[in-house]
Amino acid sequence: MSEASKDTLALGKQRSSHGRQQDEGVLVIRSIAMPADTNPSGDIFGGWLMSQMDLAAGNMAGRVSQGRGATVSVEAMQFLRPVKVGDEVTLYATLLKVGRTSMRIHVDAWARPRYSEKAQKVTDADFVFVALDENGAPRPVFDET
Ligand SMILES: CC(C)(COP(=O)(O)OP(=O)(O)OC[C@H]1O[C@@H](n2cnc3c(N)ncnc32)[C@H](O)[C@@H]1OP(=O)(O)O)[C@@H](O)C(=O)NCCC(=O)NCCS
Repeated sequence: MSEASKDTLALGKQRSSHGRQQDEGVLVIRSIAMPADTNPSGDIFGGWLMSQMDLAAGNMAGRVSQGRGATVSVEAMQFLRPVKVGDEVTLYATLLKVGRTSMRIHVDAWARPRYSEKAQKVTDADFVFVALDENGAPRPVFDET
């Protein structure tokens, strides 16, 4: 990684991590899986989890770029374990890369059964967000002036 890339990554991490660097990711969302979020089999619907992950990545992207943005790709998503009703679901986001107009953000989702301390990773994926201007066109993540 070039020195310039390291600098923009460091600035992005500073903006998005409350000033604290955490290798394992920044806690962005914590939520409870509810009965309304289930699939026909009674487990939590994968689409609900994906939307939580997209929200988490979007939240970090908005902090890093300090403005609006959109998901342009989701890569390497894997569902490792089912999520059950009542689980506490926690989303951690890690800024991996800052390009000119894009940000690559890794999201890990963990679930903790309601009456247990044994949280387990349930999904992860890499999200690419593009910073957008008021017309919906890509804009630089960091002000280039
Ligand atoms: C986001 C959007 C404006 C980007 O437009 P575009 O013409 O592809 O823009 P560019 O080609 O200039 O690419 C912009 C950046 O995104 C990156 N990018 C584009 N497509 C990508 C992909 N499939 N995967 C990873 N990165 C991608 C480019 O590398 C570039 O990054 P950089 O500036 O950091 O080098 C356009 O694709 C769009 O509006 N998509 C729909 C977004 C949306 O609605 N998301 C919600 C879905 S529900």
